[in-house]
Formats: sequence, structure tokens, C-alpha cells
Amino acid sequence: MKTGITFGTFDVFHYGHLRILERSRELCDRLVVGISSDELNFSKKGRMPYYSFDERSRIVGALKCVDEVFKEESLELKAEYIKRFKADVLVMGDDWKGKFDWVIPLTGCAVFYLPRTPAISTTAIVEKIRN
Ligand code: CTP
Repeated sequence: MKTGITFGTFDVFHYGHLRILERSRELCDRLVVGISSDELNFSKKGRMPYYSFDERSRIVGALKCVDEVFKEESLELKAEYIKRFKADVLVMGDDWKGKFDWVIPLTGCAVFYLPRTPAISTTAIVEKIRN
């Protein structure tokens, strides 16, 4: 039984989010998803998410390809989360390429960076609707 773990804000849930979660699940038997806390999102992106942590977690947790969700409080805690959930595989979008390779020697977890789905993001959707 292989456990996979991935992370993200998943605000204003869209097709690119669904695809990364489905592709992550193809690499494991059980998928755990760390959802950024509202504060972590603010520190990463300089704004609060449109949907609260509870709403974002409920949406992601309801998906067939997701087995468990938890709150990600800090980017630096990746190795602790990997150990806590006994993850064998860490999956990230390739916007993070190389950024989490440091967990490999600490945890023995394999790391995959999957290509982002082209031409869609929360930021682009919000901009489009706003204009
Ligand atoms: N993702 C993806 N393809 C996209 C958008 C996001 O594969 N078109 C992936 C990211 O690489 C990440 C996960 O989905 O692994 C969560 O990304 P998140 O930052 O929450 O979504 P974005 O749409 O990129 O948000 P923003 O525009 O606010 O940066």
C-alpha cells in the first residue's frame, strides 16, 4: 500500500486542481492532501483565499481521488508531514520544480513534479471575472 501526499491552497477549485489530484492518486494507493491554512496562503501569495480553509478542505476532501485532508501550516514542515502520514511519494506541480528535493534524504520519500495544466489558475479566474 503506497501513500502519496500533495499540497496546495485549492482556492476557487478548478480543473487544474482536479487534474493534479487525479494524477497524484495514479502514483499511489492512498492520497493525503495538505491544504494551506489561510495564514500560510497569505504568506505565500500576499492575499487571503476567497474560500476559507474549512470550505477548501471540504471541497477537496469530498473528491473520489482524495482519501484524507489536513491543514498545512508551514512550507518548512513538509518532512514532518511526510513522516506523520508515512508517505512514500510527494507530488507537486512543476511550478515547485526542485524546491522540495531536500525532503528526499530526510524521509526517503520519492518526489515527483507534474506539469501544470496549461492556461488555468485561481489568479487567472479571479482576474477574468473581475474584468
Ligand atoms: N496546479 C496545476 N495546474 C494548474 C494550477 C494548479 O497542476 N493550472 C497545481 C499546482 O501546481 C499545485 C496545486 O495545483 O500543485 C495547487 O495549486 P494552487 O496554488 O492552489 O492553485 P493555483 O491555481 O496555481 O493558484 P494561484 O493562481 O492562486 O497561484
